[in-house]
Amino acid sequence: MIVPLKQPPWWEGAVFYQIYIRSFQDSNGDGIGDLKGIISRLDYLQTLGVEGLWINPFYPSPQVDFGYDIMDYFDIDPQFGTMADFEQLVREAEKRQLKIIIDLVLNHTSDRHPFFIESRSGSHSAKRDWYIWREPAENGGPPNNWAGFEKSSWTFDHKSGQYYYHFFYRQQPDLNWRNPAVKKAMFQVLDFWLDKGVKGFRLDTINLLFEDEDLRDNPVTDEVPEYLKQVLSIKQLPIYTINLPENHHVIKALRQHLSRKGDEEPLLIGEVFVPTLRDLVPYYGDQEDEIQLPFNFFLSNVDKLSAVSFRQVLAQDSEYLSHYPTTTVLSNHDLPRATTRYASEENSEAVAKLLATMLFTLRGAPFIYYGSEIGMRDYPPEIIDEVQDPRGKLDWPEYKGRDGARTPMQWSDRKNAGFTKGSPWLKLNPDYVQRNVKAQLANPNSILNYYKKLIALRQSWSSLRRGKLTLLGEDPAVLSYLREQQDDPILVLLNMSAEKNLFRGENFEPLSQKTWKVLASTHSVATDNFPSLRVNLKPFEGLVLKKD
Ligand code: GLC
Repeated sequence: MIVPLKQPPWWEGAVFYQIYIRSFQDSNGDGIGDLKGIISRLDYLQTLGVEGLWINPFYPSPQVDFGYDIMDYFDIDPQFGTMADFEQLVREAEKRQLKIIIDLVLNHTSDRHPFFIESRSGSHSAKRDWYIWREPAENGGPPNNWAGFEKSSWTFDHKSGQYYYHFFYRQQPDLNWRNPAVKKAMFQVLDFWLDKGVKGFRLDTINLLFEDEDLRDNPVTDEVPEYLKQVLSIKQLPIYTINLPENHHVIKALRQHLSRKGDEEPLLIGEVFVPTLRDLVPYYGDQEDEIQLPFNFFLSNVDKLSAVSFRQVLAQDSEYLSHYPTTTVLSNHDLPRATTRYASEENSEAVAKLLATMLFTLRGAPFIYYGSEIGMRDYPPEIIDEVQDPRGKLDWPEYKGRDGARTPMQWSDRKNAGFTKGSPWLKLNPDYVQRNVKAQLANPNSILNYYKKLIALRQSWSSLRRGKLTLLGEDPAVLSYLREQQDDPILVLLNMSAEKNLFRGENFEPLSQKTWKVLASTHSVATDNFPSLRVNLKPFEGLVLKKD
């Protein structure tokens, strides 16, 4: 009997593109990106070569947290379009072999969701127990010290004399996942969107569903925990609010619920905040029956461009995750863009290409945050009156919020960069005059054309997409690794310093006997063959080589 080889799922090692819908493309002149705008850019995304599109939330919402506060899980916010637009988007994406992944917020709803309005109507309301309501502490204050986006995660409700819990803003009350009715109602949301043709979900803050039932205080600390410091400013260890074992019960049940829906299992990508890379492992599930792709944020937590620091993360990755598919994330809508974190205005283009070389040659499925492909940089607000993100208002001026990384996509040098004919919801980075898609399409050496080249390489070399990764050496400035599947090695050299550096291939047994040929390079190279594998790397040079 011939047993057919199991095909790897489409998403394994695939290239994803994140669309922050408000800022991608406006089609109707209201200054806010929308679904029709995305449709008009699908050809662009197809030629870029990406395979999956993750779209940030578009559901009806008061937009307190820009869509992460949902008041109806079964519809589209009119500012983003209509359900017919969404259906058209799915059809048009399918024609171009693009898979749509939608963002889903299960941890909390908007305070204007009918469930919460009912829950809040009184202590005897039928939905009271759908959220987390508690009596005040003896002094009348919040029930305990839990904090999240706000200094206290509890808000007092005068009418009933109780507090409700919200890890994020007070307008985002947490659902009570200990109540089976909540589970039932929320699972229906996934069914609804699968029927519309989406191929998977990016599960927002999926390891925050449960909190300690006894409401124990979180231990207080002097510093914000390292793994949270990019998004939060809490000085406590959230051991009773994040990452509780009960999360796994719901995630398993969710996966099981979805696997009954048909042959091709929908993809679950999970936003999980964990203290160490090793803590990601349980989120795959003990039977690999939980999240297929828990986000790996550890590379994006590295705070300077450093071969040593990136190597440390990759070494841990090899130790704990080598048997699991993973993701490579350098930027997203919650973080300063990688170009801003690791480059100055002067060396931004070189660093953007270097980072791209890393993004597309590591093991994990690469996630491109819109605009990274042209090297967009942050443009944060200068005064508090300009701030849109409420996180920015809360901690101003120490933290300016996330607006800087969410500025409109820079399509051309026309007014408002071709993003909108109206007045944009967030001011544009004035560098759009030089840094834009149109200009970069016309320039063979642009970041954009380099992205295209690397994406195409990743798709044609299975060593890059699925091969194992071996780190080479401990050079303080040059990060180097091999990707291999069968006898098809690809060698990657990344000079992370502003100095020239010599890479000595003869130091590494697996390299010495071979001649290497250049597949891609951040700079133009004098030769495309390295017989002795001594390579003089220019500042910030990245090279991808194959055995000749
Ligand atoms: C996630 C989102 C972030 C949002 C938060 C609350 O971390 O990425 O943008 O503010 O969840 O939903």
